[in-house]
Amino acid sequence: MDYLQIVGPTKLTGSVDISGAKNAALPLIAMTLLAKNEVTLNNLPNVVDIKTLIKLLSNLGATVDLEKESVKINTCSLTNTKATYDIVKTMRASILVLGPLLSRFGHCEVSLPGGCAIGQRPIDLHLKALEQMGAEISIQAGYVLAKAPDGLKGAHIVFDKITVTGTANIVMAAALAKGKTIITNAALEPEVVQLCEVLKSAGISIDGIGSSELIIYGTDRRLVEIEPFHIIPDRIEAGTYMCAAAITNSEVTINKIRPDHLEAVSSKLEQMGFSLEVKDTSITVKPAESIKAVDIITQEFPAFPTDMQAQFLTLCTQADGVSIIEERLFENRFMHVSELQRLGADIKLKGNSATVAGKIDLVGADVMATDLRASSALVLAAMVAKGTTHVHRIYHLDRGYVELEKKLQKLGANIKRLKE
Ligand code: EPZ
Repeated sequence: MDYLQIVGPTKLTGSVDISGAKNAALPLIAMTLLAKNEVTLNNLPNVVDIKTLIKLLSNLGATVDLEKESVKINTCSLTNTKATYDIVKTMRASILVLGPLLSRFGHCEVSLPGGCAIGQRPIDLHLKALEQMGAEISIQAGYVLAKAPDGLKGAHIVFDKITVTGTANIVMAAALAKGKTIITNAALEPEVVQLCEVLKSAGISIDGIGSSELIIYGTDRRLVEIEPFHIIPDRIEAGTYMCAAAITNSEVTINKIRPDHLEAVSSKLEQMGFSLEVKDTSITVKPAESIKAVDIITQEFPAFPTDMQAQFLTLCTQADGVSIIEERLFENRFMHVSELQRLGADIKLKGNSATVAGKIDLVGADVMATDLRASSALVLAAMVAKGTTHVHRIYHLDRGYVELEKKLQKLGANIKRLKE
């Protein structure tokens, strides 16, 4: 297994190009199940989760032509509709094939994704919504068996909780359903917005894009023609590099981004004393005189994103004063805390809240990545810790960050990928 060796403290300088968004690419790859043509996805992030979902589709019989940063997918010759455990267990977002498979074929079997490090990650809201659309859903031997022999029909879905992949699943199911589907309490994340925009440009009538109420008029199983498109930039990768600049108190420009997808992150950095130069497709983070402690509550878009919580909690160890961080979306998303404590951080956990004392001079040590965003937080900590840090189990990182160590090396970090 690989690990990262990072020597700190380090300064960064220069600029970094952000890749396509993993969490936009995943539903857009599933969406190719609704197309009657070969679909080209550009600005594809070259990360493990993307390869996993593409492999799932090819296992179903789709033809796939994967380049470094694009893929062509043709699902016309699909031969089966069973998403098996061996793949789904490695990437729970595979559940995104459930809605499109069921709506197109009227039947499918998708392995239950199971939980993950950050929480139980249920899919009850996905399943309840599909039942409202006429599906018969049963759980057998760890699989969701879904049937809708006459196709799905439009319904008024009111999500009890805002769910990003739940909204994406139902948007795709509704696209081929009979009649109108209303989704109330829909997720507003930019990744859901792009899915709706691509479907709309393919001829699916969707109202309310970007709002919490979506109205989708289904085609009654007529497949659509989807033109090539460009995946939006990864706002979480961008936010992670903004934190890298901040924690090393360096001036760094983050390029090829959508600043409007990062307003909560930018605002929090400004509250901490950093100044940001925002242009159309870039943000330059400039050093702070002194880093101020802040309070953070993670919530759905456009509020502060849970996927940036670990990175900001790490940054708060360098702030002057005490920061309180409340994680409202996932029940176990503080596993980076015990690893940060190994580096000397002074953090107290109580329920879903972390109290972070700063400013603490961190010292390098061996630490272990536990989930995707926690592992990026450990890399940030290692860049400011004095001495050498080894970050182990970085397969977590490889799921969602394109060439992280190469991008950081280019910015001047002393970071190497080595073999255990
Ligand atoms: C998406 O996960 C992202 N993943 C996550 O990013 C992100 O953290 C999360 O949204 C929240 O923004 C992808 O887009 C592939 P949810 P998702 O359904 O859709 C509860 C990363 O690091 N819930 O919006 O699975 C759930 O338990 C990953 O890139 C139900 O109770 O999250 C949670 O408390 C990590 N029942 C809340 O809703 C359901 O049926 C939000 O979950 C579905 C969700």
